[in-house]
Amino acid sequence: MTDIPEELALATLACRAGQYQTSELEQSEALFLSSSFCFESAAQAAARFSGDEEGNVYSRFTNPTVRGFEQRLAAMEGGERAIGTSSGMSAILSLVMATLVSGDEIVASRSVFGTTVNLFKNVLSKFGIVTTLVDMTNLDAWERAMTSRTRMLFLETPSNPLTDVADLQALADLAHQHGAQLVVDNCFCTPVLQRPLEFGADVVVHSATKYLDGQGRCLGGALVGSSALMEERLVPFLRSAGPTMSPFNAWVFLKGLETLQIRMERHSRSATVVARWLDEHPAVRRVYYPGLESHPQYALARAQQSDFGGIVSFDVADRAAAWRIVDNLRLFSITANLGDAKSIVTHPATTTHGRLSAEDRESMNVGEGLLRLSVGLEDPNDLLCDIEQAIG
Ligand SMILES: Cc1ncc(COP(=O)(O)O)c(C=O)c1O
Repeated sequence: MTDIPEELALATLACRAGQYQTSELEQSEALFLSSSFCFESAAQAAARFSGDEEGNVYSRFTNPTVRGFEQRLAAMEGGERAIGTSSGMSAILSLVMATLVSGDEIVASRSVFGTTVNLFKNVLSKFGIVTTLVDMTNLDAWERAMTSRTRMLFLETPSNPLTDVADLQALADLAHQHGAQLVVDNCFCTPVLQRPLEFGADVVVHSATKYLDGQGRCLGGALVGSSALMEERLVPFLRSAGPTMSPFNAWVFLKGLETLQIRMERHSRSATVVARWLDEHPAVRRVYYPGLESHPQYALARAQQSDFGGIVSFDVADRAAAWRIVDNLRLFSITANLGDAKSIVTHPATTTHGRLSAEDRESMNVGEGLLRLSVGLEDPNDLLCDIEQAIG
């Protein structure tokens, strides 16, 4: 890897950290689309396999392009070490499998991505790992749910889709008092808007599929934390279990990271315009955006984040009204992703949260009239005109 000075600003790290140059001195990072790496001799093969000699062996273990992405993201999150994974969900699964055992417990925010709830409640429970869901904004609820077996607190802040904001420092303190780790899915903010490790979180999770890519091309995930945790627990797990990041996807994410800061600034600016406009509209019952002064955790979001991000959710009367808006929108794609340059509209109750029980959705406040917008990089005035004609 090219040596770069420490203590550089985030925008500089986003372009320069983790840059690996071959003897060709290419300007754009090389893509090592190779499943394995050759050895000069039988002795070297043996030494590489045993770990006596450092170096690449096989792309399920290490790959220079993936390593470049991991170093760039770790530098941006202010973490010692990052690990790339095949998707955001496999990042969460790998972390739990590598750090917990049967009988351990997780306390998780009720307001997380629907598939994360599914993983915790329906998959991990089969392996004896029990999850209790709590209201993420209520510190007492977290504390009450913890037992002597609690090893992990898990949350997203802002949450998906209702943009609730949790106090990271308070939760890190609580987790550490009880010998648990605090894990934060930083998908909505990215390190540009929030760096959870600085507030005491132990691990940051990413779905790189979202803003880190930024153009809706590749699936990927990542974990960022201490070198000890990543090297001793995650690296051996990924080597044995195999949910590693594809080098091609890592190359796309490396390019995505280079423009992340200017994209997040623009997403935040446009989402603020959209949220304020929706807040004034008579057909809109409630807007969920941490950048609105009326948001219950507005002050906390201002203190913890450098801006408010690109996700705006809002309630209209019922499912029929919500679906009418979805079908009328022309500049918002109806698709399951978020964090793309292109704006996206989602009806969470029948898509991202559709496989949860009605009671679970109700306890999460994901109602039939709720819509989630991922505000993209199009001109905000064009987006407002489109929303106006769609709401009617
Ligand atoms: C907040 C959040 N975390 C994790 C995931 C899962 O990521 P992936 O789809 O890359 O597995 C998603 C996907 O939408 C998400 O929104």
